[in-house]
Order: sequence, then C-alpha cells, then structure tokens
Amino acid sequence: MKKLKLAVLASGRGSNLQALLDASESDRLNALIEVVVSDNPNAYALERARAKGVAAEVVQMPVSGDRDEHDLNILKALEKYNVEAVALAGYMRLAGPRLLKAFPNRIVNIHPALLPAFPGLDTHARALARGVKYSGCTVHFVDDGVDTGPIILQAAVPVLDDDNPESLAARILLEEHRIYPQALEYLAQGRLRIEGSRVRIVSSN
Ligand code: GRF
Repeated sequence: MKKLKLAVLASGRGSNLQALLDASESDRLNALIEVVVSDNPNAYALERARAKGVAAEVVQMPVSGDRDEHDLNILKALEKYNVEAVALAGYMRLAGPRLLKAFPNRIVNIHPALLPAFPGLDTHARALARGVKYSGCTVHFVDDGVDTGPIILQAAVPVLDDDNPESLAARILLEEHRIYPQALEYLAQGRLRIEGSRVRIVSSN
C-alpha cells in the first residue's frame, strides 16, 4: 500500500514525534515522515528528525507576530515535500485559517487530556485541581477552535491520590505514544469518516 506522506510540526522535546518516527519504521504506521518543522530552533524534535535522516526545517514566528504570515512561511517550507497530512506533536501554536484551508481535515493533533475536558495549556495541573479520577489523551482533527476538532482516538488513565502534574503527565505520555501512531495509521488507511463532530473508524477493504 502507498505510504501517507506526513509533515510533523513540533515545538519541543518531540517524544511524540519519536513515537511516530519509530512506528513509521515498523508496520504499525504506513506513513513516511517527510519533514519536521519547528517554530523553535532549539527544539530537540529537530535533532530527533535529523538522527533519522528526516528533513528538519525551522520556521520562526515573524517579528511582526503575524500569524497568517507564519502559516504562509510554513506552507512554503512544506511545498517541496508534497505532504498529504500534517501531524501536530507538541506544537505550541494554533493552526490558522490558511493552514487549515491547505489541509482540510488533514491536520491532526494530540492533546494530553480527555477532551472536551481541559483544552488548552496546563492540562495536568487543572485536571488535578478539579479532582478528576481519570484523565488521558486525545487525538483529534484540528479545526478553527482550541482543541475542539472531531475526536479520533482517546485513552484514559487513572489519576492517583499522590499524583502531581509530572507523574500524571508521564502516565499519560505512554498512552500518547501508543494512540498517536494508531490514529495516523487509520488516517493512512483512509478509514476515518468525519460525520459532524464524530469520527467513525470504518473497516478497511
Ligand atoms: C504532549 O503531552 C502533547 O500531548 C502535548 O504536548 C506534549 C508534547 O510532548 N500537545 P512531546 O514534545 O511530544 O514530547
């Protein structure tokens, strides 16, 4: 089967990127990560890409702070790789209208909470403060809201009495590394059907 050509956008340490790179080398993810783009020149994600021989591009936010210009620069950086979908992996910026339009229903994100609970930042501290007994992670399509797009996959983990944000994050991260490649594999297999806010995973033929 033809491999899905993917770009990954990451701003930081890139452990989810690593999970995707590793999965794409096995039969768990039928995709080729063509390029990793970061808005942060010091992101360890860039090193991880280079270590696997994957192109690594830095596209910094313009000094003007103009988001649309930033999106345009990202699209320019992606042009020569002919990617079919974009995976956000710890990417600390919102995808603007220009990026969304270039990849309609082809941008996915991983979020470290059970959406629609705790969208945005500081999820683990907020989950602990709210006293939830389970948290987890969500892979979803990106739309024009903050972590509001149709949900593809989720995994739940228990919140323990002595958890702090770091221990909870670590437990959830293991699940992130499991479900993100799985969700992208469904995308690569063309098995995701978006119906309103719901995503149906249909059987492959
Ligand atoms: C992950 O928890 C992800 O869910 C969130 O940002 C974190 C990125 O971690 N969006 P990493 O850079 O993939 O290690």
